[in-house]
Amino acid sequence: MQAPLQAPLQDRLGAVKAQVQAALDRAIGALPPGELRDAMAYACAGGKGIRAFLVMESARLHGVSDAAALPVATAVEALHAYSLVHDDLPAMDDDDLRRGQPTVHVKWSEATAILAGDALQSLAFGLLADPAIGDAATRRLVSAFAQAVGGAGMVWGQALDIAAETARQPLTLAQITELQRGKTGALIRFAAIAGPLIADADMAPMAAYADAVGLAFQIADDILDVTGNEDVTGKRVGKDVAAGKATFVSLLALDGARAEAARLIDAADAALEPYGEGAGNLRHLARFVIERDT
Ligand code: IPE
Ligand code: IPE
Ligand code: MG
Ligand code: MG
Ligand code: MG
Repeated sequence: MQAPLQAPLQDRLGAVKAQVQAALDRAIGALPPGELRDAMAYACAGGKGIRAFLVMESARLHGVSDAAALPVATAVEALHAYSLVHDDLPAMDDDDLRRGQPTVHVKWSEATAILAGDALQSLAFGLLADPAIGDAATRRLVSAFAQAVGGAGMVWGQALDIAAETARQPLTLAQITELQRGKTGALIRFAAIAGPLIADADMAPMAAYADAVGLAFQIADDILDVTGNEDVTGKRVGKDVAAGKATFVSLLALDGARAEAARLIDAADAALEPYGEGAGNLRHLARFVIERDT
């Protein structure tokens, strides 16, 4: 699969990534020096920045300032980095390569990977206390963030994902959809509704967009685990089948999974209708999510 990122999208994604990286460097740089801090910084480097981009675009569409949106985008990427460090641990997916580099537990140790993940999660919540966001909006964000990433959201989805490896029967489409909605969808949804949440505006269009994009994103990730090139994805391939993971590919095969992803991107496009031309970047991002090769 090719990833024909439109030039304006690439520019905007690059600019958001640079802003978020600088904010992460500031926050992590303020911690005591040592292995824990080094591992946290290492874990935050080199991602695509899709979730941060969703926060910034959603904020822009709802008239929220960059100053208020940036701490939220930074928090989302820190939280995402923690989720990857823990996802790669031997007790979870047992991966040794992430973003083209050795995983944190391989480079340092399991203890350091667990602790770096813990501290990145705390750092993420702390970033939401930025005064630029405003008190009432912060309250809404903290509550939604906790729901999205905790025991009814991302962590719950991860628990279902691990349980599915040893399930006696293959999961149904409804069960796989529920699993993905938690492990990948919940954080993407939070990122996409951050704008209306801060602005106290209607969240329905962004939520519908995010639900479609989030699912399509995980389907693309599952497809890349089968068809991807390790040098491009920066992570091992062929791991899902080996681990007996329940994925859209395991259930629908490659063609079925591709068709479902394409259908979801049409749904994402439709959800953006209320925003008209202003949502061009989000439309491009939705396409990129399923056409990417990394
Ligand atoms: C990978 O997410 C993990 C999943 C939720 C499937 P990304 O593909 O967004 O990872 P980075 O941040 O770009 O490395
Ligand atoms: C990871 O899903 C989801 C989270 C980290 C919450 P995967 O296990 O499919 O992600 P990769 O393929 O390792 O990036
Ligand atoms: Mg996993
Ligand atoms: Mg994994
Ligand atoms: Mg995967």
